[in-house]
Amino acid sequence: MVMHKNKRILIGVTGGIAAYKVPHLVRQLKERGAEVRVVMSGSAQEFVTPMTLQAVSGLPVSLNLLDVEAESGMGHIELARWADVVLVAPATANFMAKIASGFADDLLSTLILATEAPLIIAPAMNQQMWQHPATQENLSILESRGVKVLGPADGLQACGEIGPGRMVEPEIIAQTILSQNTEDESHCDLLSGVNVVVTAGPTWEAIDPVRGITNHSSGKMGYALAAAARHSGANVTLVSGPVHLPTPSGVNKIAVSSAKQMLEAVLGCVSDTEIFIGVAAVADYRPVQTRDQKIKKSGDTMSIELVKNPDILASVAACPEKPFTVGFAAETENILEHARKKRIAKSVDMIAANNVAGREGAFGNQKNAVTLITKDAEIEIALMDKYDLAMEMIRCIKQEYEKTRLLV
Ligand code: CTP
Repeated sequence: MVMHKNKRILIGVTGGIAAYKVPHLVRQLKERGAEVRVVMSGSAQEFVTPMTLQAVSGLPVSLNLLDVEAESGMGHIELARWADVVLVAPATANFMAKIASGFADDLLSTLILATEAPLIIAPAMNQQMWQHPATQENLSILESRGVKVLGPADGLQACGEIGPGRMVEPEIIAQTILSQNTEDESHCDLLSGVNVVVTAGPTWEAIDPVRGITNHSSGKMGYALAAAARHSGANVTLVSGPVHLPTPSGVNKIAVSSAKQMLEAVLGCVSDTEIFIGVAAVADYRPVQTRDQKIKKSGDTMSIELVKNPDILASVAACPEKPFTVGFAAETENILEHARKKRIAKSVDMIAANNVAGREGAFGNQKNAVTLITKDAEIEIALMDKYDLAMEMIRCIKQEYEKTRLLV
């Protein structure tokens, strides 16, 4: 289990409605062992109180630059030196403009100029404001300076509009920041130069322009495996169905929607692939027909005829020059038994038996446990954070992959 003990995270909160999620973010970071200090802009205090953030962080919250008392305690320079990482969440359009231009007219903008710690921002704003050329130019400036930008996510906004501008969920911000930490600590060359393809997330099988068949897969396990493979030195392609997760750094992402598109993308790169990990929760069936126009309501019942989707994992395993193939078996009962059968039926080298039943199941959760099944071994990996589990899996995959290469 990777611990994140010495991670000092300074969270800067600026004035957007997503500030109400920051107490939860602070707790998520602290639960994973981080030490958190909060600095708030004036307008952030309109959305969430310093008292709340002081209570959840367990440390005094800093508010003002020109405050004699505060400067005699932990002033802006000490805060700037204290942080291992500075995270601005939510980052408003105004604050992005301010730091892109190098202003230092309040505590947060000043310490951002004064710190040597990496800066991560999680923007949140109305979707038109996000898409405005001024904001996009500021974004490019910040990215060109090495600022890491998480999100924004797409979806329904507080203002009622739909589009990009929602702050990425606190769990995902916490996971990304702390896996960044793990990345720093555990960069290794287990899979140096090896080409790895990972599928992740659900698929979306359209019924008509507004409806479709999908499932609850969050994509977290697949994204964690892509990040872990990358941190192990692999060249990683991530073929992903629709999810709300930031792409792990250094990973080449191909965004797809349906199972057919996912298969096409995978077959497009399989000949150069040494390890294939199928984590996607691919819809088993799709509508025979996708209507061009929205289906109107009519009778009391209706049926939609479905046809089987191609099996992506089995198709890869059937390729003449097949890579080392790893699948997941999402099961709700007789987990190991079903998983063993699935491994043989799909001719894959390794399958991760995964319990997806009920509240404790893998879907959407931060933690997971699997049993890795190969033709001659079964390795149990206990419940742990999905990133840590992914790193353990990469170690086992590497060992088994090496064995198959020795046999050639
Ligand atoms: N898989 C795939 N293409 C499909 C269905 C599944 O690539 N059309 C892959 C998944 O990515 C996973 C493995 O096959 O690695 C097993 O998926 P799972 O949903 O557990 O099993 P299914 O084959 O769909 O069988 P069932 O739904 O009957 O359990």
